[in-house]
Amino acid sequence: MLILGGTVVDAAGARRADLRVGGDGRIAEVYEAGPSEPAAGGGGGETAGDGPSFGRPRPGEAVYDATGKLVVPGGVDAHTHLEMPVGAIRVSDDFFTGTRAAALGGTTTVVDYVPVRRGEDPLEAASAWKAVAAKAAVDWGLHLTFPEAVEERTVETAVSAGITSFKLYLAYPDRLQIDDAAVLRLMRYARRHGALVNLHCENGGGIAELQREALSEGRTGVAAHAATRPAVLEAEAVTRAAALAEVADAPIFVVHLSSADALVAALAARSRGADLHAETCPQYLYLESSRVEGRDGMDFVCSPPLRGPRDREALWEGLAAGEISTVGTDHCPFWRADRRAGTRRREEGAADFTEVPGGLPGVETRMALVHEGVALGRLSLEDWVRTCAEMPARIFGLFPRKGSLMVGSDADLVIWDRARRQSLSASKLHMATDHSPYEEVTVTGWPELVLSRGRVVVEDGEFLGEPGWGEYLARAPYGR
Ligand code: URP
Ligand code: ZN
Ligand code: ZN
Repeated sequence: MLILGGTVVDAAGARRADLRVGGDGRIAEVYEAGPSEPAAGGGGGETAGDGPSFGRPRPGEAVYDATGKLVVPGGVDAHTHLEMPVGAIRVSDDFFTGTRAAALGGTTTVVDYVPVRRGEDPLEAASAWKAVAAKAAVDWGLHLTFPEAVEERTVETAVSAGITSFKLYLAYPDRLQIDDAAVLRLMRYARRHGALVNLHCENGGGIAELQREALSEGRTGVAAHAATRPAVLEAEAVTRAAALAEVADAPIFVVHLSSADALVAALAARSRGADLHAETCPQYLYLESSRVEGRDGMDFVCSPPLRGPRDREALWEGLAAGEISTVGTDHCPFWRADRRAGTRRREEGAADFTEVPGGLPGVETRMALVHEGVALGRLSLEDWVRTCAEMPARIFGLFPRKGSLMVGSDADLVIWDRARRQSLSASKLHMATDHSPYEEVTVTGWPELVLSRGRVVVEDGEFLGEPGWGEYLARAPYGR
């Protein structure tokens, strides 16, 4: 396929360029417009017909006119929880529905967290998860989760199988949290074997005590969910994680950073020399903490919780400044009925806020919501592509195969129509859920065409892919 006339935006900036997608599903040629041709963003309509082979389609080659459109690398969402069991229920999107929705929203790679229970062998859990993920419609990689200490050879084996990052929880003492000694030891293993430690930074002990207080005072509704998870306990956990990483001389990745205080903690660690990357999520950029107090407050429960205007301001600024490296989704949708029945699936409904499953849908809407940040004057187009595609690919060992439009990269690309309007109501989206955190929102900017390894998987809002098209991505060790 020849893609002509578009404005390419990638790590190298925004410029007029034409692309040839090879029969092997990779970018075969890139021809950049010369100075006399229309500048980036101009959308003038001319093609770069004087390139070595451009403007002359080969026999059987399709030509796509991207005039006036952006051509960007497919999005890389490095934080999803597809099909994940949570107590007696399960996340509502499976690997097919979730990755179909991802493609429809312009994301062509996901990195999903393998759920691991205490007592379970993480490597066996990863093998089982690969079978579950095989129906994915776009390419996928895996992170592991270690809810307890593991031996060094587990980390080594995971890395050699292309699972080069694992998540440690500093919260949820009943099922996931591990102590600081285990965190430090795992950071040392990670350092030795090229793994990246991803951390859920909230102080689990402090939160458990606040929850006990709230319940004993009869504060059982979801408003107490946020009140028992204050930003200062997120910031403390970031500081502690970074201190342990400094001792271990290990890189770390702070997932779903939600608050100004936590960002200050992350930046302080960086100024001490920490190799620390942070991710935020669209819900923390857009949604106000008071949403949990409304009639459908349950539908806004996530951890860390939604925060206030000062936090959102700091996160947008941090993204634009490169202090926050990536935007992931923490995609973790549920059906309304499941949220209300709670993780113990009680007929009479969740007994209190601690039983409401936490997490929001987002894999389909991330690219558009961050692109809105460009219209809002918060970000540049390059920031959008950097935080949603390039940096997640770089940090998680997928670059330049993903997150790039260089010759040789996978032809995972999106023709993005900056004028296309799209409602973010659940009824107009494709994630397996019956509610949307952005029910009343309409964005301007949506994919027109999406390619996954050279194959058209979305055209004009129609999904043209299939279950199982997605391939497992063995990721490179961190920084190598
Ligand atoms: O509430 C959330 N974020 N659920 C997903 C699990 C996690 O901690 O990332
Ligand atoms: Zn988490
Ligand atoms: Zn998560």
